[in-house]
Amino acid sequence: MARIVTTMGGLMAAYLIYLEPPTAITAWFPWHIFFMTIGVYGFMSYSVLNFVFNGKKAYNQTVWFHFVLNALAAACILLGFVAIYTNKETKGKTHWKSWHGTIGFYTFVLIMGMTIGNISFLFPDQMVRAVGPKTVKKIKLVHRIVGTLAYVFVMFEMFLAYYSNWFNRNVTGVLWYLFPTMTLLMAAIVVVQVAPKFFR
Ligand code: HEM
Repeated sequence: MARIVTTMGGLMAAYLIYLEPPTAITAWFPWHIFFMTIGVYGFMSYSVLNFVFNGKKAYNQTVWFHFVLNALAAACILLGFVAIYTNKETKGKTHWKSWHGTIGFYTFVLIMGMTIGNISFLFPDQMVRAVGPKTVKKIKLVHRIVGTLAYVFVMFEMFLAYYSNWFNRNVTGVLWYLFPTMTLLMAAIVVVQVAPKFFR
C-alpha cells in the first residue's frame, strides 16, 4: 500500500510539472507547482511512510531519515510559497483570494511551525532532562497525531488546488477526476498505514 502512495505521488508530480515546467528563473508560477508537488507528493509522503518502509532498520537511522526528508519537504514548501507570493506581487494581484490561497497560507504556517518545533527531537537527551521521560513520551504521541493530521491537511490543500482556474484550463476528462481522487486516496492510505503505529 505504501508503495502505491509513493508511486501515485510521483506520477502526479511528474505530470503537473510536465504541464507547467519551470523554464525561467523569474517565471514564478511554474516554480509554485514544481516545489509544492516535489515537497508534498514526494518528500513529505515518503517521510511519513518512511516508518512503514524502514520498519526493520535501526530506529535512530529511521528517525534521522524522517527528519531529513521532512526538512527537504519544508524547504520545498517554503520555496513554493515564496514563488506564488512573488508571482502575485509582480502581477499586482490580490493575495489569499481563493479557498486554496487562504487555506494554503495556514497550511504553510502550520508546516513551518512544526518544522521549527520538531528540531527539538534532534536533542532527545536534553529533552528528557528538561521535561522528564513521561512528558517526552506524551510529546512524541502528540507529534505523531499532529504530524498525520498535518499531512491530511496538506493533501486537502492539494485537493483544493484542483479547483483552481489553472487546473480546469489544463486538465480535462478522466484526469480531472483522477487527480483529486488519488490525492484523497493517498491521505486515506497514509492514515491507515500510520495510525496503528501511534501507540507503540
Ligand atoms: C499541485 C499542487 C498545487 C497547485 C496546482 C497549486 C496551484 C495554485 C494556483 C493556480 C494558485 C493561484 C490561484 C489561487 O490563489 O488560488 C495558487 C495559490 C496559492 N497556493 Fe497553490 N498550488 C498547489 C499546491 C499548494 C500547496 C501544497 C500549498 C501550501 C502548502 C499552496 C499554497 C498556495 C498559496 C498560499 C497560494 C496563494 C498565494 C497568495 O495569494 O499570495 N499551494 N496555487
